[in-house]
Amino acid sequence: MTAPDALTSLVEHVASLLERADRAVLGITGPPGSGKSTLASALLSALGPRAAHLPMDGFHLADVQLDLLGLRDRKGAPETFDVDGYVATLSRLRDEPDRTLYAPGFERDLEQPIAAAIAIPPSARLIVTEGNYLLLPDRGWERVRPLLAEVWFVEVADDVRRERLVRRHEEFGKSPEAARAWVERVDEPNARLVAATRDRADLVVPAPVQTDPAPLSPDAPRA
Ligand SMILES: Nc1ncnc2c1ncn2[C@@H]1O[C@H](COP(=O)(O)OP(=O)(O)OP(=O)(O)O)[C@@H](O)[C@H]1O
Ligand SMILES: [Mg+2]
Repeated sequence: MTAPDALTSLVEHVASLLERADRAVLGITGPPGSGKSTLASALLSALGPRAAHLPMDGFHLADVQLDLLGLRDRKGAPETFDVDGYVATLSRLRDEPDRTLYAPGFERDLEQPIAAAIAIPPSARLIVTEGNYLLLPDRGWERVRPLLAEVWFVEVADDVRRERLVRRHEEFGKSPEAARAWVERVDEPNARLVAATRDRADLVVPAPVQTDPAPLSPDAPRA
């Protein structure tokens, strides 16, 4: 995780968003495996119940749709998400703050979204949304940025990031060969798309590697 000092200053920074009269949505983006979800969950535990989590991951198209569209083997690419649903949900957070908002979550074991897995109550003043494509300038994703107060870009060395992804694919059932092949064929083209959006971020957040809890070699014991 981000070093404790760095996290403290990010929490302080984000606390200013909580001072706003209106609800604010903070975006966290970065390439696959950079540490977006890890940073989001650290922020959320520091901020307590005034903050809520809305991962972009929940807007993955279900396998049944990916099969119909012939996109199953590119799951994770920009066109494999319901971007309109994500934009509509972000708009509802702004326009209907007095209603509990239900949003889909992503179930990693199933690799599928689950409707209404997430509930964001009216009491949530800061929503942390995180995902790969928050700053993409086209294909419908350009409608996301205006709905966010700020967007941070999580950056980590590419080799570290790739090893983490391989390890996570293995943890969720892929063989070492299949995990590596998926990272090179699917995750890395997506990573390049995301890396090209870095300059549009309000803040670039380094995810230091020296505090990693486990060795990053794919055949090392798992954390
Ligand atoms: N600082 C860190 N040190 C060690 N491992 C980490 C660190 N941050 C994240 N990881 C691990 O790396 C993997 C990817 O992290 P995480 O899920 O936070 O990234 P992500 O950007 O949300 O990925 P994705 O785009 O696939 O959702 C996870 O398995 C996580 O446990
Ligand atoms: Mg994630």
